[in-house]
Amino acid sequence: MNSAGIRYGGHYNPEQWPEKVWAEDVALMAETGVDLVTVGVFARGELQPGPGRALETGWLDRVLDLLTGVGVGVGLATATASPPPWLVAAHPSILPVDASGVRLSPGGRQHYCPSSPDYREAAGELAGRMAERYGGHPALELWHVGNEYGCHVPACYCDASAEAFRHWLEARYGGIDQLNYAWGSALWSQRYRNFDEVLPPRAAPTFPNPSQQLDFARFSNDELLACYSAEREVLAAATPTVPVTTNLMGLFRPTDGWARAMDLVSLDRYPDPDDPDAHLSAALAADLTRSLAGGRPWYLMEQAPGAVNWRRVNVPKSRGEYRRWSLQAVARGADAVLQFQWRASAAGAEKYHSGMVPHADTDTRAWQEVVDLDAELRRLAPLAGTLVTADVALLLDWEGWWGLELDLSRYRLVVVPALYLVSDEAAAGLERYVAGGGVAVVTYFSGIIEPTDRVRLGGYPAPWRDLLGLHVDEHAPLPPGRSERLSGPLAHPSSRGFRWLERVRLRGARALLTVASEPLTGQPAATVHDCGQGAAYYLATTPDPATLDALVADASGRAGVNPTASVPPGVEAVERGGHLVLINHLDRDAEVDLGHDGRRDLLSGSVRSGGVTLTPGEVLVLAPATPTEPAPKTPSPVPGRAG
Ligand code: GLA
Repeated sequence: MNSAGIRYGGHYNPEQWPEKVWAEDVALMAETGVDLVTVGVFARGELQPGPGRALETGWLDRVLDLLTGVGVGVGLATATASPPPWLVAAHPSILPVDASGVRLSPGGRQHYCPSSPDYREAAGELAGRMAERYGGHPALELWHVGNEYGCHVPACYCDASAEAFRHWLEARYGGIDQLNYAWGSALWSQRYRNFDEVLPPRAAPTFPNPSQQLDFARFSNDELLACYSAEREVLAAATPTVPVTTNLMGLFRPTDGWARAMDLVSLDRYPDPDDPDAHLSAALAADLTRSLAGGRPWYLMEQAPGAVNWRRVNVPKSRGEYRRWSLQAVARGADAVLQFQWRASAAGAEKYHSGMVPHADTDTRAWQEVVDLDAELRRLAPLAGTLVTADVALLLDWEGWWGLELDLSRYRLVVVPALYLVSDEAAAGLERYVAGGGVAVVTYFSGIIEPTDRVRLGGYPAPWRDLLGLHVDEHAPLPPGRSERLSGPLAHPSSRGFRWLERVRLRGARALLTVASEPLTGQPAATVHDCGQGAAYYLATTPDPATLDALVADASGRAGVNPTASVPPGVEAVERGGHLVLINHLDRDAEVDLGHDGRRDLLSGSVRSGGVTLTPGEVLVLAPATPTEPAPKTPSPVPGRAG
């Protein structure tokens, strides 16, 4: 990523404003140090006024020239995220159909069927015209394709989609007998004679076939990805040196395996100000994005400077919260902090969504926070392009993300939460990792089915029974609110297991927690199995937090994983490029011991050591204790700004 600084900016939608506002926009951007904006994401209606007509580019030319004049780079959209009314009128079959057979109408956005040949043709054509017109523009730094693929329409159930699904299934299975076997179609008389009889999993009287649903989810992801990839190919052919991205959404279930088709991975992230644990899910989304980027820096493509418009209650951010989320993203590997959006809309569905320039204009606390953040991001220029230090991997079960298991050896500890679907390769990868001295923590409901959705027989978790040294005979989920007592070496007097228990037979593993109440008294609830230099832990319940802490401490000790810093809960500690970032997410003071060596805080310039008090929301970015070699930088697809 860039080697000169952290980029700052947001989505800029000048088409929503009269031209006289644009000059004010660029003047304000210069005042805030904004140096990167995303332009044109939903501007197709303004750019392409009708079928076959030339693009109306005059307004965009003027916008890009204004931005160039103040040194603001542009992530230019291909503007294909929302079909304008004329396109729908010309090709009504573009509109998507939901599982109940309802054809969705225009009036919102993203109203297109990903399998629609008309949509794809029109999108590819527009991408080509944009590349031709703007491929050489000095402001162009990045292509932004589509927008949050699948966020409103993750799948379409129309006849064109059904046809495409059949072709996809034929390619996957080769023959109808293989599909019947994989889908278990002997149940409920679902046997197909040929592919022509197969449909998407449309609304049905009772439980739909789960394997059909799984394949349809895979197919729908592939169709969306094909839309993105087709545009990317057009752009790459025209402008091979300009990186291409689309904005991902962290733990968003419908999209899987996209990062490998992106030159730069970007994330939209909207932590809820009303959620006291939002820093945890926000950190997870950031770390996931970094993993998708292969460990390299990534871009925070969207966050809200203040409130959003789409939650049931849109709680505003408290003072300093915008800064804290931004710095958290940088700590966890972001090289850009961009917002949705530059100027809050005055009309339309998002008119109550915050912007960097609020409705109340610049004589506001919100604007001051936007300006102040720029100064701080400049001080963090030494972090740009550096890598985050991580000793622990969390294995999620998106197919295609299992390339990860090929390289597990670089982590000391791998956590495998509920990895329900496991391929043979992924299963073997984890075994190799532990055999090579790694420490794994596997939780319940892992290793249950094959990628075909058929159950792996012979006792759960079939591919890892030897690795874990146990057999699970039966699952025993607990009703909400119920818990059972736990005893054993890792238990405290009030240890309890929630959500899940199992009947487990030990085959070499040792019990660390045991159920201490009927009817499952004596059943192991947590175990460890020594495997050569490595160890495999198994967790058959969700323990209370203190018991879980004991288990994590045991596994971490075994793996030689030490906390980045000793901090109380609610204080985040991350290491990036040798810098220690501490963030107090609590609404009260927190004490942290920094040790004897003085470390300079990049934000305040002061040198800190010993016991320090972090005030609520306070962030420290501490330079390495002793002068070190410059932190390793990664190559940048996008140039940067000076710190
Ligand atoms: C998403 C979209 C944006 C905007 C924001 C509002 O992230 O990509 O266009 O609608 O939500 O929060």
